[in-house]
Amino acid sequence: MIHVERYERYWIWLSLAGLVIFAIAIGVSSFMFGIQVPSPEALVNPNTVAKTGNFANPGLRQLAPNKYEAYIRAQASPWKFYPDKLEVPVGSTVTFYLTSADVQHGFKLEGTNINVMVLPGQVTKMTATFNQKGTFPYVCTEYCGVGHQNMFGTLVVK
Ligand code: CUA
Repeated sequence: MIHVERYERYWIWLSLAGLVIFAIAIGVSSFMFGIQVPSPEALVNPNTVAKTGNFANPGLRQLAPNKYEAYIRAQASPWKFYPDKLEVPVGSTVTFYLTSADVQHGFKLEGTNINVMVLPGQVTKMTATFNQKGTFPYVCTEYCGVGHQNMFGTLVVK
């Protein structure tokens, strides 16, 4: 049996307790607060994404009453989200599909827990429900070139 100093033993137990507490915190945040992991939904060709498919004609599509999907393409030069304006009625659930036509971008939607990377070649999927009227700005959160600060848009819930 190895002899462990008393204080060292306390620290070992404290570290183990910390791991258990953090594991519980992850479980609680995922199942009670709806944390979504932005796993790659699909792969796309960044060279043709602006020419064919859903991202060539980006924007909102209504699937059912109060149920929408939004295809958003992030692009540098000119630095812009396509589209940079979305409008949905209050109470809507919107599933966002995001991709980049060139470099790495970010997408943070104020007032929601959506804050993801937007990568060329990959589609990121996130869902949010809007139960309050208002204007929700979205911005690029990854430095993507000299026009990075121009990458923003707004989602209006009315
Ligand atoms: Cu796109 Cu920063």
